[in-house]
Amino acid sequence: VILVAGGTGRLGSLVVRGLAQRQIPVRVLTRDPARAGHLAADGVEVTVGDVRDPATLTKAVSGADVVVSAIHGFAGVDGVTPATIDRDGNVHLIDAARDAGSHVVMMSVVGAAADSPLELFRMKYAAEQHLLASGVPCTIVRATAFLELWVELLHKTAARSGRPVVFGRGANPINFVSACDVAAVVERAITDVTTRGSILQIGGPDNISLNQLAAAVQASAGRTSQPRHIPRPALHLIANTIGRIKRDLGRQARAAIAMDQIDLTFDSTALRQAYPDLPLTSLDTCLHPMTPPRPREA
Ligand SMILES: NC(=O)c1ccc[n+]([C@@H]2O[C@H](COP(=O)([O-])OP(=O)(O)OC[C@H]3O[C@@H](n4cnc5c(N)ncnc54)[C@H](OP(=O)(O)O)[C@@H]3O)[C@@H](O)[C@H]2O)c1
Repeated sequence: VILVAGGTGRLGSLVVRGLAQRQIPVRVLTRDPARAGHLAADGVEVTVGDVRDPATLTKAVSGADVVVSAIHGFAGVDGVTPATIDRDGNVHLIDAARDAGSHVVMMSVVGAAADSPLELFRMKYAAEQHLLASGVPCTIVRATAFLELWVELLHKTAARSGRPVVFGRGANPINFVSACDVAAVVERAITDVTTRGSILQIGGPDNISLNQLAAAVQASAGRTSQPRHIPRPALHLIANTIGRIKRDLGRQARAAIAMDQIDLTFDSTALRQAYPDLPLTSLDTCLHPMTPPRPREA
């Protein structure tokens, strides 16, 4: 059986569905079984646990051939942070997998590094280091920013005024990848043991700015108005005032400042040449997903 921690999330749900479609038994780890409701039809097993509490993980990993980590605590509240989830939660999961004799496939981020200005990237790097030193047969999958998440955020912030919110100048080129492409890499990593010991880095076809993405989202919705910008000084102010009390807000403001200026471009040619069958989902496909034809009424 494959245990997917984070199997209720955006990426995890795609991975779970993909495995279930291939008749591979899947178990989903969640803090709240209600969050796995949308996976019920896929016949997956659901186990309740919290990566912050190692005692809850022993049963979850029991008998798992591969433990997949698709968790993150970036946008969390109430003690859910990159440090408690992406670093320490992953450490607990890796240790449980080691004790159970499971392999591990762990989701990380392109740009994970000990000295990254982004806390999430530093915490992912710490988890990667723990995994590589653990002796557990493992594959690390690093991805760039998920396109669907940002398209959704831009649509959501435009819902009322018709104008999406862009943090900072929005001119910094960023690599965005479809979560569907990332799920295909994760599935490959789960089922192909020749990937053990590797770091697979996946990105999307384009490096585009948030302004360009916002314009594409606007056009797809038939809207013409320009985005609203939250200027960098305002982001610094949030980070250094209310962000010190409301930690999640501070983290998001600091991440927005970093996203507006650090190099987030990426070229995924190497991985795509190694695995030519990987999907390469375009921005256009993400903006206009094909709806399956409705069955004809009798
Ligand atoms: N989003 C991006 O742009 C992006 C880019 C690169 C890499 N990644 C990585 O890809 C993976 C999936 O990201 P996503 O955006 O698809 O995630 P998501 O939709 O936000 O889902 C996060 C998942 O983490 C789980 N989780 C959080 N705290 C937990 C805890 N204490 N114990 C157990 N599970 C916990 C949640 O499970 P429950 O709520 O059901 O407990 C949920 O399934 C993550 O590892 C992320 O770092 C994401």
